[in-house]
Amino acid sequence: MLNIWNQEPTDWRVDFSSASALSLRTEGPGRVLTVGLGDTPTPEILRQAAAKAIRTLHPLGTESVLLDASVPVRTLGAPGLSALASGAMLAQYARKVYKEKPERPLRVYVTGTGDLDAPALLRETGNVVQGIFLARDLTNCPPNLLTPEDLAREAVSAARSVGMETQVLSAQACRELGMGAFLAVGSSSAHAPCLIILRYRGGSPEEKPLGLVGKGVCFDSGGYCLKGKASLVNQKGDMAGGATVCGAMVALAANRVPVNVTALIPAVENRISPDSFLPGDVITSMSGKTIEVGNTDAEGRLILADAITYAIQVEKVDSVVDVATLTGSMSRMLGQVATGYFCNDEAFNARLLAAAERSGELFWRCPTFPEYRKLIESPVADLVNTADSCGAIAAGLFLEEFAGTTPWIHLDIAGTAHARSRPIREYWEKGATGVCVSTLYELCRGQA
Ligand code: BES
Ligand code: ZN
Ligand code: ZN
Repeated sequence: MLNIWNQEPTDWRVDFSSASALSLRTEGPGRVLTVGLGDTPTPEILRQAAAKAIRTLHPLGTESVLLDASVPVRTLGAPGLSALASGAMLAQYARKVYKEKPERPLRVYVTGTGDLDAPALLRETGNVVQGIFLARDLTNCPPNLLTPEDLAREAVSAARSVGMETQVLSAQACRELGMGAFLAVGSSSAHAPCLIILRYRGGSPEEKPLGLVGKGVCFDSGGYCLKGKASLVNQKGDMAGGATVCGAMVALAANRVPVNVTALIPAVENRISPDSFLPGDVITSMSGKTIEVGNTDAEGRLILADAITYAIQVEKVDSVVDVATLTGSMSRMLGQVATGYFCNDEAFNARLLAAAERSGELFWRCPTFPEYRKLIESPVADLVNTADSCGAIAAGLFLEEFAGTTPWIHLDIAGTAHARSRPIREYWEKGATGVCVSTLYELCRGQA
């Protein structure tokens, strides 16, 4: 995807300049594209600029491009080179299409990397980009080709290819563990649910793992609280959280980051069947807490609740991050721009923000004031899975109940996991974005 320049002539050369705006220039035999960064370049600006350069040149029939990293490296150092590399690589993402499509691979080189250990930086960045591509591929996959069982097979094969330990718990095994909330959702489909577990052990054996929990709803019809036509679009991507967690794990393992991380992906479909759970049901979660099902479309928090409990009780994680396309409410509030999140621990919050600073992704913290707890009180059970208002907050508070005193972060990626027809970032295209893979990677790496 991106190599160190070997002196071979290229169709185009790309210069980055802190003065000018994007401009195309033809000079002598080689063509030169000058990409402006403005006067205060940041790694994120550079990531977008590199992606824009590739996106501009590729459709022109270009076969090879040389990126001159001198200005970025001089102004930003190693983070500048990594950002340039990730932008150039991400822009080469080719979504799988189910029809004939001539492949036009692009050769991209970089030069001007100065004293930096460019091969090592490119290798690390490349592995993170591969993790993002895995998350995008899984999320873009049509639902008939990605049932819970298929998701498990894909996750296990990706994890094994980088030497990770894997386990898949069947519905029966989950029943024996008392995962009543997870199985209530799972009962709605002929495609059986399963709990996917990936264990990466790069750290010392005595160090407790960090837990990553990803929502793996392979299709969310809403169940008996059926969604309308318009809302069903893209609900094949309701496993984006699970895909994100897979991508981050594969990146960590490929880069041999010295940490211990355990990923849990509860995989289900939310459909309608004779055995489906119903609005009004009262179910018992693995934690022992009972839940009134106010709405079968609020299924994500049910499966996450049991996965969080499992992470804490069985996998003995010392902290947990869950990632989920959880609420339309969050998507309406923050759109594609930022991922809204909730957190119960200030030190963990600081680590997330430090990770986001390195990844360039945007996050916005949402409130968990105790006054909001009224939203999820039920007259018949410990909790109810819906609320009359404040949808994203109610969902966050619901999950917090299951994290208890364990440091916890909930990332609601309902708005950021998919880019619509006009993506707001140059390195995204319509469809899955792979958002949060790089931040989760940085969060785990920061612990090393
Ligand atoms: N998967 C949806 C959330 C979603 C909406 C993701 C739009 C991506 C785009 C989730 O399971 C859901 O249906 N949430 C409901 C909850 C409500 C019924 C309490 C919502 O937010 O509308
Ligand atoms: Zn739903
Ligand atoms: Zn859902």
